[in-house]
Amino acid sequence: MTLDDAARFERTVCFDWRRDTPLSGNQSSIAIREATLNDADAICRVHIASVRVLCALDYTPAQIEAWVGRNVPENYRKAMQYKGETMFVAEIQGAIAGFSSLHRREVCAIYVHPACTRRGVGTRLLNAVEQAAIARGIHTLRLDASVTAIPFYTAQGYAVVERSRHTFWDGTAVPCAKMKKQLSSDGAASARFL
Ligand SMILES: CC(C)(COP(=O)(O)OP(=O)(O)OC[C@H]1O[C@@H](n2cnc3c(N)ncnc32)[C@H](O)[C@@H]1OP(=O)(O)O)[C@@H](O)C(=O)NCCC(=O)NCCS
Repeated sequence: MTLDDAARFERTVCFDWRRDTPLSGNQSSIAIREATLNDADAICRVHIASVRVLCALDYTPAQIEAWVGRNVPENYRKAMQYKGETMFVAEIQGAIAGFSSLHRREVCAIYVHPACTRRGVGTRLLNAVEQAAIARGIHTLRLDASVTAIPFYTAQGYAVVERSRHTFWDGTAVPCAKMKKQLSSDGAASARFL
């Protein structure tokens, strides 16, 4: 998908939101819920648009192609059904604006649609993952952060453990950062270098 395709996608998916109810910074309009298998199509579209648009400044077109070029809804259904991932979606006006995923002690994904950034969607999705982890007795969460998302995770109390590289299915390697956060047992989370 080119940037033009992503822009077309954004117009299609976000058209109703913008025409009927222009997006505002009001967090109360964001609803978070656990994802179902029926959400896989929308999750896949949001994931692809998020990476193609938001990560384009930090990664090359070839890297982005390796990242999401082969993403299909079936991947997300399998992740939920067979791989033990718990996914959450954020809805604005009934449309999926972002998703997050928890697998064991790892935050596997947080992606927000390009039309919906900087209004608290990512924070709410990360909070959902952290609360699910705490409910399972997990005290530390780790993740591989894209270069694009490091400032976001830092703002959420995650600390960089080391700069590294993530290798995709075709051998393409991209820079990222391993980050961690200590979650306290009372449901709150606190930042700390580990
Ligand atoms: C990273 C991402 C999930 C953030 O989602 P979001 O909904 O925009 O995040 P929020 O609105 O909750 O931001 C919370 C805070 O994080 C920080 N932050 C978020 N995006 C930032 C950016 N691009 N640059 C600097 N700080 C940022 C800010 O402190 C922000 O608070 P503020 O808006 O009051 O300044 C989103 O930009 C995204 O999907 N990026 C592309 C995909 C990606 O790389 N995902 C992570 C894979 S590991």
